[in-house]
Amino acid sequence: MKNIAQVFLASCLALPAWSQSLHSPANKLALRFSLSPAGEPTYQLSFGSRTVLKPSRLGVLVQDQAGFAQGLTVVRMDSAQHDETWQPVWGEVKSIRNRYKELLVTLQQPGPEQRQVQVRFRLYDDGLGFRYEWPRQPNLQYFTVMGERTEFNLPADHKAFWIPGDYDSNEYAYTTSRLSQVNSGGITPIQLKSDPKRVQTPLMLKSDDGLYVNIHEAALVNYPAMMLDVSPRGFGLTAHLVPAATGAAAYLQAPEHTPWRTIVVSDKAPEVLASKLILNLNEPTKLTDTGWIKPQKFVGVWWEMHVNRSSWNYSDASNLKLADTDWQALKPNGHHGANTQNVKRYIDFAARHGIGGVLVEGWNVGWEDWAGNWKEEVFDFVTPYPDFSVPELQQYAQQKGVRLIMHHETSGSVTNYERRQDRALTFMQEHGYDAVKTGYVGRIIPRGEHHDGQWMVNHYNRTAANMAQRRIMVDMHESVRPTGLHRTYPNWLASEAARGNEFNAWSEGNAPEHETILPFTRLMGGPMDYTPGIFQIKLESWNPARNQGKQVHTTLAKQLALYVTLYSPLQMAADLPEAYEKHPDAFQFIKDVAVDWDDTRILAAEPGDYLVTARQAKGKNEWYLGAITDENARQQTVKLDFLPAGQKYQATIYADGKGASWDKNPQAYQIRKQTVDSKSTLKLQLAPGGGAAVSFKPVNR
Ligand code: NOJ
Ligand code: CA
Repeated sequence: MKNIAQVFLASCLALPAWSQSLHSPANKLALRFSLSPAGEPTYQLSFGSRTVLKPSRLGVLVQDQAGFAQGLTVVRMDSAQHDETWQPVWGEVKSIRNRYKELLVTLQQPGPEQRQVQVRFRLYDDGLGFRYEWPRQPNLQYFTVMGERTEFNLPADHKAFWIPGDYDSNEYAYTTSRLSQVNSGGITPIQLKSDPKRVQTPLMLKSDDGLYVNIHEAALVNYPAMMLDVSPRGFGLTAHLVPAATGAAAYLQAPEHTPWRTIVVSDKAPEVLASKLILNLNEPTKLTDTGWIKPQKFVGVWWEMHVNRSSWNYSDASNLKLADTDWQALKPNGHHGANTQNVKRYIDFAARHGIGGVLVEGWNVGWEDWAGNWKEEVFDFVTPYPDFSVPELQQYAQQKGVRLIMHHETSGSVTNYERRQDRALTFMQEHGYDAVKTGYVGRIIPRGEHHDGQWMVNHYNRTAANMAQRRIMVDMHESVRPTGLHRTYPNWLASEAARGNEFNAWSEGNAPEHETILPFTRLMGGPMDYTPGIFQIKLESWNPARNQGKQVHTTLAKQLALYVTLYSPLQMAADLPEAYEKHPDAFQFIKDVAVDWDDTRILAAEPGDYLVTARQAKGKNEWYLGAITDENARQQTVKLDFLPAGQKYQATIYADGKGASWDKNPQAYQIRKQTVDSKSTLKLQLAPGGGAAVSFKPVNR
């Protein structure tokens, strides 16, 4: 690194007190750091001649000490550049280029203690990352962060895709409004009512002149999640940190640093989706042997509970105590889903169709009163219900070449889970499980902590690390939203942390535009276990009494397209086997589609409207394409120039049928085959709430 402070000492005598610019490697973005005469650090960002962020303050507030926000002086400035290419263990592309220019500003508080903070900026051609760092120093050891001054001052009243700033849930429908119109006052909270002007990240913004700006964070470690407060006047955003039970934000010990604050910028929507900035800002994995980590598809004893065909609980008793209950003696309710026979049916189905995993929820005791009680001892994660035979199923699955996927619902009682986790993981290893879905429904214990606070962030990360040591893959539900940590923990295949398909089963559901927004918001941080693949769109037929009017808000063909448009190395075929058995021709796409990729091309995209994505299967000359639309019918004309030239492919097109629509005729689809090459063009007709899925397999000559 080169110290450029001296140069500026000589040249910057006028106001502002300090100022330094940095250009991205190919000059697309320009950053300017300044220190005001009052010692307040600010930064601003531009994209060509357009302003991305106006001067925006930086700073961190600390308990019982002068903060790191004003009265600061510049000690030094260092610059560096970096260009490297790396290979993810799994992902959307085979290799990723990490190329940026860096500016490290060292700032010092006034006074004899000379406490220092550094701001490290990494400027890419597709965005900016910056974080605060506290180097090892004599007069700063333990300290308590109370909040940040960090601002993102937008130049105009952009269109925003936002969800309320609930500290405990991301499971909201997105609202699209002008920034100035953000107001979650009328939205029913999922967990906690938040300030009506507070929103969560990833926050997707679009300016009137077509600039796309995405604000989020990368590498959320030992720190609370960042939310954003929209200023009452103007279009400024201020970082808000999810508080701990004590009211503070984060307890730190130098040397330490915050997560990266990220701003992805482009004038083309597909480039936002293609950005690898967040992954690049995460630490490489320390795992040397990753051969056991397997992207995969799975089915599960799951949707049948959500559509009221069976139950998680074994009996209808309630108010049971984990330790005092004789689970063997409980009277069964007669519709417990996770019974040995039923699980075998799913294993058979998975084996028949080459699907690797079978998730079973409701296998272990405690579901009689698991939710809403905020009690500490609900599950022990090792005791099966009397009708679920662990050894028998272990053997059965093994014979059939299928792996059972474990389920650890904690019901938010994380102290209980932490005490029992080691034993639970040993139990898994003893019984042939190599993957687990965890869940954090309800309020967190320790009481007063939040899903998105520092304490829980540390829990999720520790859990991913523990599991990596045991060679266990994990899928977390109700965790904090991802920030690219799957680079560091490649066994952390997916998280939910958003409003999944399941909402269609028991709420007013997800609007047809939902899946066109998710890639621009929640998925910016990492893969989502959305659980696509619902074929029986109208849910009444599963349980007429309880599912009246309930339905998935897409067509069947769009459910297929989601396997491509919603990236995840872990994809559920979420419907019941009997639903798939009625449509074996459409199910073929789910059987074929890959879950790991050598290449990805975002062919067309607009948040809230549509998305067309093509991907090349890992290590194979096969491509898959997904096209989806919101509530509007659309035609997508797709050039197949992503296919290698000179090779013919058989395209199998799974499209919406004549007269299809998500509400009136969701199951109408048609499948046609066509020989194509890189010069061909496909015309895809998407129904309202519809989509199309295409597989391309080489034609053997
Ligand atoms: C919510 C999860 O998202 C869902 O997948 C699961 O079935 C239930 N909790 C029960 O754990
Ligand atoms: Ca729309």
